[in-house]
Amino acid sequence: MQFEMIDQETIQRIMEAARIEEVVGQFVSLKKRGANYIGCCPFHNEKTPSFNVSPTRGIFKCFGCGEAGDVVKFLMKHEHYTYPEALHWLADKYHIEIREEELTDEQRERQTERDGLFHVSEFAQKYFADLLYNNEIGRAVGLSYFHQRGLSDEIIKRFGLGYCLEDWSNFTDHAINNGYSQAMLEKTGLTIIKEDTGKRYDRFRGRVMFPIYSISGRVLGFSGRILTSDKQAAKYVNSPDSEIYNKSRILYGLYQARQAIGKADKCYLVEGNIDVISMHQSGVENTVASCGTSLTIEQIRLIKRYTPNVTVLYDGDKAGIKAALRAIDLLFAEGMHVRVTLFPGGEDPDSYAQKYGSTALQEFLATHEDNFVLYKTRVLLDEVKDDPIRRAGLISDTAHTIALVTDLMERQEYIRQCSYLLKVSEDVLTHEVAKAINQNRERTLNSKSDSTQTAAPYQNVESGQTDNQPEEPAPTTQDNYQFTLTPPEAERHLVQLLLNYGNTVLPQTFTNEKNVQQQSEYSVAQIIISDLRNDQLAFSHPLCQRIYEQCSLMLDRGGQIDTRRFLTSDDDKLRSFAAGLMVDTYSISSSWLKLKQIHVPTIEENLQQDLTETLYTFKRQRLNQIVCSLNEQLRSADVEHQQQLLTEIQSYSNLARQLSNALGQVITPHLN
Ligand code: CTP
Ligand code: MN
Repeated sequence: MQFEMIDQETIQRIMEAARIEEVVGQFVSLKKRGANYIGCCPFHNEKTPSFNVSPTRGIFKCFGCGEAGDVVKFLMKHEHYTYPEALHWLADKYHIEIREEELTDEQRERQTERDGLFHVSEFAQKYFADLLYNNEIGRAVGLSYFHQRGLSDEIIKRFGLGYCLEDWSNFTDHAINNGYSQAMLEKTGLTIIKEDTGKRYDRFRGRVMFPIYSISGRVLGFSGRILTSDKQAAKYVNSPDSEIYNKSRILYGLYQARQAIGKADKCYLVEGNIDVISMHQSGVENTVASCGTSLTIEQIRLIKRYTPNVTVLYDGDKAGIKAALRAIDLLFAEGMHVRVTLFPGGEDPDSYAQKYGSTALQEFLATHEDNFVLYKTRVLLDEVKDDPIRRAGLISDTAHTIALVTDLMERQEYIRQCSYLLKVSEDVLTHEVAKAINQNRERTLNSKSDSTQTAAPYQNVESGQTDNQPEEPAPTTQDNYQFTLTPPEAERHLVQLLLNYGNTVLPQTFTNEKNVQQQSEYSVAQIIISDLRNDQLAFSHPLCQRIYEQCSLMLDRGGQIDTRRFLTSDDDKLRSFAAGLMVDTYSISSSWLKLKQIHVPTIEENLQQDLTETLYTFKRQRLNQIVCSLNEQLRSADVEHQQQLLTEIQSYSNLARQLSNALGQVITPHLN
């Protein structure tokens, strides 16, 4: 389904209305524990609950698997909704109107038209399905065809199958009698109107009908199969593309398969409608087909919402192998893990299941998976035989396929296995793969170079975009090493202050140039960020640093700290880390309480004290680290360098001294 743009104000209202504990509670059984709720994590298998929901912060976080986010992210992860779909779901639940006034006249007209197309398609599906059981010819021709192909009544109903009578315009007439306009019927392609005579007839007359559903179960179009073996007529006829039906963005069976795909964390991709249904009937419900088109990127992305693992099932004949080969590079390029199963000559999943039964089919699937790179290499090797020139081409071809694999371990494994198959050394193949990767990179860089972005790919370029997504600096390889480390306590605490109290305003006193004390109000985020900038200090933990950088960016753009950006981030590690810091019952240190027992301090007073202490401790630790590493370098440096290092150490030590002076006698510095 497509949605109009949802304006910021509406999003705001949805987020305010949504109660995360209610929403999560619809899918997970939750128990109250203090201010939070806990339950068993729906994202991984566990017996003791480590899944936390914090109503006050609007966050969920699993301390077992690390999954975390806000209410929208929960729906996206759990129900596999897109961002707008999740918002619509919430708007529906909390009765928040997504106003249509925002639409232009033209958009509204399209919306009405789409609604009309949906209605007529649904009407048609019901009619065709009804004929299959409640019409004499429907039963004798349509139903008996499905039965003869081994389909049960249960599966026929699950897939909404039907029959369109042979008469020229039986369906069209019926629809028009029921108030559907000829224009709508024509737009869905259900009715064809002869240009010269104006006569109308049913596109699918005399065919058994396979409705095609959206992920949410709305009928979008149809595929109709002929019953005779008439060589002149097409075996399958499909709905033409329309406002609601776009064949390259639809997978046949996804509506019925989606839950099973998520559960199995794997999707079988077959060629035909009947193959899908047959697989489902055989108990392999995580199966879909790209109906009548070769696989598209959009279809792959649909699958990717549920799982990165795809097994392609194709006929073992030439056409099937070709089709399978075409699919691979596309799937790989999208970062999917691809496997392949070829059926013995002439069989497809359906014929195999009908011939040998469900158990045999399941067993065959379990034992005949091949990894695709190896499969492709074998197939091509077989074609190339001993021709040395074509063989060299094959090595480079294989290298290009391997270059598309993003997972490093996986890539290494392919190199190992293929070098064995191709009888070349691993070094040679590694070199070829490296070359292919470089070529790919150049190609992507070139295609981007017409835009103004000329900076290094990993740099966080201020691009002046106005959309909501923060530009996150991509993690560098160096980051990957450090992700596993926990940040030092003060660093962690500082980021907690940034996330939980970033927008809280505190009065600050400072001395101006004329030596006059002045008071002004700053937010916690402003205080932290300007302070660290002054001293040019960065965080040692990469995730802390990224949060800090993005917060700086938000402030620089004149905004507030918007923690939702972290909670909805696509980066699992960042999201989990940020949510962990936020859900952790944060308490302001009580030292202030002990010091000043004369009056009960306000939250602001506590916060101010806590902020000052944390900033101090953080800086002290950082400076310590820096001075230590400079001292380390000093030991092995040559004379020329030594002077420079000593100057640096001097200036950092000065900084440390100023730091302790600023805090008076409260804390004794431990530098040097
Ligand atoms: N297809 C199509 N138009 C055709 C032939 C095929 O759109 N003229 C699509 C259909 O979605 C079909 C798929 O390609 O399901 C695979 O075609 P094919 O292998 O010929 O058919 P089967 O799925 O094996 O169909 P059946 O078992 O009903 O013969
Ligand atoms: Mn078939």
